[in-house]
Amino acid sequence: MNPLRQIESDHLAPCSRPLRVALVGAGAFARKAHLPSLREHADCFEVVALWSRTRASAEAAADAVGLAILWGEDGWADLLSGRLSVELLDVVLPIQDQARFVRQALDANLAVVSEKPIARNTSEAQELLRSAPSRGWWVAENWRFEPAFLLARAALPALGEVLSFSASAQSLMPEDVPLMRPDGWRMAADGNWIVDVGVHFVAALRLVLGEVELVHVVRQSLRPELQPFDTFAATLRARTAPFALGVWLFSLSVPKATPRTISGLSDLDLQISGRNGTLVVSRGAVELRDTDGRTRAASRGFQGPSVAYALRAAARGGSFGALAAAVAPLEAWKDLELVEAVLQQDVGEDIRVTCAY
Ligand SMILES: *[C@@H]1O[C@H](CO)[C@@H](O)[C@H](O)[C@H]1NC(C)=O
Ligand SMILES: *[C@@H]1O[C@H](CO)[C@@H](O)[C@H](O)[C@H]1NC(C)=O
Repeated sequence: MNPLRQIESDHLAPCSRPLRVALVGAGAFARKAHLPSLREHADCFEVVALWSRTRASAEAAADAVGLAILWGEDGWADLLSGRLSVELLDVVLPIQDQARFVRQALDANLAVVSEKPIARNTSEAQELLRSAPSRGWWVAENWRFEPAFLLARAALPALGEVLSFSASAQSLMPEDVPLMRPDGWRMAADGNWIVDVGVHFVAALRLVLGEVELVHVVRQSLRPELQPFDTFAATLRARTAPFALGVWLFSLSVPKATPRTISGLSDLDLQISGRNGTLVVSRGAVELRDTDGRTRAASRGFQGPSVAYALRAAARGGSFGALAAAVAPLEAWKDLELVEAVLQQDVGEDIRVTCAY
């Protein structure tokens, strides 16, 4: 079977029965990505309730199709009480609220799948892991389920020994998108947006290359209103045998160098070179080139249902070896750990350059 068909059939293997699910959150990503994914995958999910902070947002999101609508602290207590016989909570809240809701749901003995990142920082994540039996908690990092990265992982052995890699995640993020709104939760001082965005890239790198560690990072502010910084160049080392060195260039304030291969705001241009050639990977395309740069194989046009794949893996929980590992908190933890290192590495000789944009 070709690797793409294999990926699809693994991820779409039917669930034994639908779980009764409540969606916790009614923000854009909950409404546009999670709710449709839960509804379209009826072999795994029966959506029975939707909770939001306010009644208005809950009602607006649920479009009145047979869901129990809950809101505010009373509605949350009701959801945790077990009255609705919910088996799984899908928690998709602002980063500042995720940890409390995840902790309380786990304390109430409910199974939880929560949107990435696992937490704002590793100490918060550690606290959650302590209060939770890891068996009942999954973290939905959808980039670990993107078909292009899964295909790249399958193609990696064709390179022979891996020598080096470069990962470019540069984009000129317009100021008027919700992600960038200064009064939104992402850009708030405790919003930790670099964690929110950065774990995607680390998840993709770790999926394709295996464990990756930070060697050094230089950070820069091109738009000083984006705190704590918006641009960095990191040196990474993959624990391949032997170690492969790589660079990770990240910016929200630099134009993307290559055409978009997928709709949406963020992409990753990843090149991995080995003795036998190079893999050129983005979210939308994978290309294998020989040592002279000639294309030997290419697949493009991916637009994978990666949120649905991640949720399905969570629904099937421990019963599905490799896929269960992909949503295990440990993986999300390791993604966060690397981004946290980028944020915290002692600045030392790091040259901080600030200029008006
Ligand atoms: C982790 O995040 C929490 C919530 O923002 C904060 O209270 C705590 O100080 C942070 N811990 C570290 C070590 O940064
Ligand atoms: C690398 O290329 C050589 C020469 O073409 C070939 O013999 C070898 O099988 C290739 N290795 C891999 C891992 O494809």
